[in-house]
Amino acid sequence: MKVCRRVTFNSAHRLYRKDWSDEQNNAIFGKCNNPNYHGHNYILEIWIEGNIDPETGYVIDLKIVKDLAKSEIEERFDHRNLNLDCPEFKDLNPTAENIAVVCWNLLRAKLDSKYDLSIRLWETENNVVEYNGH
Ligand code: NI
Repeated sequence: MKVCRRVTFNSAHRLYRKDWSDEQNNAIFGKCNNPNYHGHNYILEIWIEGNIDPETGYVIDLKIVKDLAKSEIEERFDHRNLNLDCPEFKDLNPTAENIAVVCWNLLRAKLDSKYDLSIRLWETENNVVEYNGH
């Protein structure tokens, strides 16, 4: 059984590599390499898999996941510039893929190991990435 809690955060980012020339960054990242940054309204789905506890009828109390999402994701990334404000991305290009890995690692560290964790990160209405540790 899988249950899901959603959290949203609004963040700015710029996709580029410091060790590449402007030409190379523009060729690979295009508009996403805008030096003045741009923003997304990210939606993160946190999917937790486990057995239904016969006593409570819950896989997990979603209040626990709500609080984790707030402390680990929302308070860390909402209304931040990922490149400038967030040490997680100091040397990591904040693509949707890399943001998903960072979010998964933060949540995994705080979640009881009896649960499986997978996440889906929507960067736009049409673009989504999924990560479950690989
Ligand atoms: Ni972007």
